[in-house]
Amino acid sequence: AQKAAVGILGLGTVGSGVIRILEDHRQELTHQTGCEIYAKKILVQDASKQRSVNVEGTTLTENAADVLQDPEIQIVIEVMGGIEESRNYILQSLQSKKHVITANKDVMALHGTELLQAAEENGCWLLYEASVAGGIPVIRGMTEGLAGDRISRIMGIMNGTTNYILTKMFQDERDYDEVLVEAQELGFAESDPTSDVDGLDAARKIAILARLGFSMNVELEDVEVEGIRGVTTEDMQYCAQLGYSLKLIGLAKRVEDRIELTVQPMLIPNDHPLASVQDEYNAVYIHGEAVGETMFYGPGAGSLPTATAIVSDLTAVVKNMMLGAVGSTVSKPLHTKALQNNEE
Ligand code: NAP
Ligand code: HSE
Repeated sequence: AQKAAVGILGLGTVGSGVIRILEDHRQELTHQTGCEIYAKKILVQDASKQRSVNVEGTTLTENAADVLQDPEIQIVIEVMGGIEESRNYILQSLQSKKHVITANKDVMALHGTELLQAAEENGCWLLYEASVAGGIPVIRGMTEGLAGDRISRIMGIMNGTTNYILTKMFQDERDYDEVLVEAQELGFAESDPTSDVDGLDAARKIAILARLGFSMNVELEDVEVEGIRGVTTEDMQYCAQLGYSLKLIGLAKRVEDRIELTVQPMLIPNDHPLASVQDEYNAVYIHGEAVGETMFYGPGAGSLPTATAIVSDLTAVVKNMMLGAVGSTVSKPLHTKALQNNEE
């Protein structure tokens, strides 16, 4: 089989999951793509650190240029997080005609338009399924599965950390601070978990989905945000007595020619399916005028679920590269098209 060399930026929770899947599902991936995919180089902060995955045969480097300037690497996976540095690395990769796959909702929410434009200009793919709702294929589901519909509302639980905290506070009557530490240890939380608990992470995700669902250049500042920091165990017990569960909900809806965007803790009746979404799981409702209500449900954070989305994007890119090698290409996924302006 032919070989595809991949460069990875980051080997933390998500990057390690990617390595694990590439190794454990090697046979299936080679069968699906007709190509042997291997991680050639990985950028890390500390190359001497002990790793939880087998990286034998892969070069770990602290120098980004080792990955970004390697002509053999045609695909770069960005799973290091942060904003400006990762934005630069993604841009540099695209400008060097490398395809990029990212889990970075911070970058896609703030700089998605610019980066998708750069991808178009350079004839590359920029895929970001892992940036919203971890392992749930909600971006493809909405943009391709519901491509023929007109979306009127997107609503759901889009942050695994806060759902984990709220679940454990309610079910086990545990303290907020203690459960937050556990969510960090389990790899669900962001490196700065204030973006989870203050609602910014969910705001970034709803901004990405709204931009795609409503074909508008939604800005992060357009989202009205409130997090879960003020929620107490007593609040939750009181809600339960009234027949409700408290959930952090992201909502985007059409109101005439505008889109209303909010992230806030909301009371959900206990007989509503969102009330039973537990732990780090996410669920996203998408209402289309023709299809009605659809729901996407699954693990919204964590190493292997998120890595599944990354590897799914990776197989799409490799399959297309393999077709290109024999003179044909599949069409790019719809969500890779950059929006030019709000009129589009
Ligand atoms: P993480 O565990 O903190 O790992 C980050 C990795 O990137 C580490 O390997 C670190 O190197 C490396 N790194 C960080 N900054 C670097 C820099 N400036 N230069 C070189 N290497 C750098 O993060 P994560 O949880 O895997 O998340 C990665 C990305 O995926 C983030 O954008 C996050 O929002 C997104 N995401 C995460 C999840 C999740 O469940 N965790 C789900 C969906 C999306 P060292 O190992 O040497 O420290
Ligand atoms: N910190 C994020 C969450 C990771 O808890 O949902 C997945 O995007």
